[in-house]
Amino acid sequence: MTRLFRIEKAEQLADKVYQMWVKAPHVAHHAAAGQFVIFRIDEKGERIPLTISAVDGDSIRVIFMAVGKTTTHLAALSAGDSIRDIAGPLGKQSDIKKYGTCVVLGGGVGTASLPIIARAARAAGNRVIGIVGARNASLLILEDEMKAACDELLISTDDGSKGFHGFAADVLKQVMARETVDCVWIIGPAMMMKVTSEVTRAAGIRTYVSLNPVMVDGTGMCGSCRVTVGGETKFACVDGPEFDAHKVDFAGLMQRLRMYQPEEKDSLERYHAHTCACKGGDHHA
Ligand code: FAD
Ligand code: FES
Ligand code: MG
Repeated sequence: MTRLFRIEKAEQLADKVYQMWVKAPHVAHHAAAGQFVIFRIDEKGERIPLTISAVDGDSIRVIFMAVGKTTTHLAALSAGDSIRDIAGPLGKQSDIKKYGTCVVLGGGVGTASLPIIARAARAAGNRVIGIVGARNASLLILEDEMKAACDELLISTDDGSKGFHGFAADVLKQVMARETVDCVWIIGPAMMMKVTSEVTRAAGIRTYVSLNPVMVDGTGMCGSCRVTVGGETKFACVDGPEFDAHKVDFAGLMQRLRMYQPEEKDSLERYHAHTCACKGGDHHA
């Protein structure tokens, strides 16, 4: 039996950043903060992991950046179109407990993962401070939602066009200087997570990062998502994706993320060549 998952709503949030609500009751009814899904757009498509950013009734929301072939294809879909397969919810839930004061910090599209964690942390009795960083004001996403989900929201932009002029890591330093912080989530590009988690290391603050290695099956079988944490090999899809930031081998993660770049570039070029040739026709092959 073919099951298709209908796109209920699709819209652009910022340059190359899109949000999509998809009807997927089997995921929506079981999803928790920190988990993800694996999408396969059509029978010929590759499998890509995306964080479950929100849940509403039978539908889930994903927020993604169009960085290559599959996310560009996904961005071209509209409400009423369908996704061929959605597997999930996958991965472990965020380690939500009553810690005291928690910071949820996101960079770029990593911010998509924060509101669901912020709401869960707040429901567990924590005071939650959100820190959202972006290159400039036009790339900030989910500001209103984060304001509602957190007790306090702080914003930074690299160019100073909104909020603090500088990096989210600097804002985290300011928060740590003014009050006790008990737990931090940092979600964004690997380099940003590596650098930002150094801010909490010396203070011994429990810090989680959500790792984004290449994933294929999402069930611990293929080994593509292996990462080194505390000197041990872990599979991010089943052992994570959240891990103790201070134990992660980020250099290894970043090296593996670059492994298939020539093939990925080639795939995107062929996709663009094909969609141009279709001139607005069926470009979903
Ligand atoms: P490609 O050109 O194929 O790849 C671009 C880069 O993306 C690669 O160099 C590689 O670093 C990475 N990548 C490629 N294939 C995969 C893959 N199968 N799995 C993981 N990374 C890959 N991105 C978002 O924008 N929003 C999210 O909510 C989000 N959540 C994620 C959750 C998890 C648990 C993981 C592991 C990744 C998540 N990502 C998310 C990253 C997203 O999966 C990749 O950007 C996407 O797979 C790229 O596919 P592509 O074909 O468009 O790009
Ligand atoms: Fe295959 Fe994790 S994605 S083992
Ligand atoms: Mg790809």
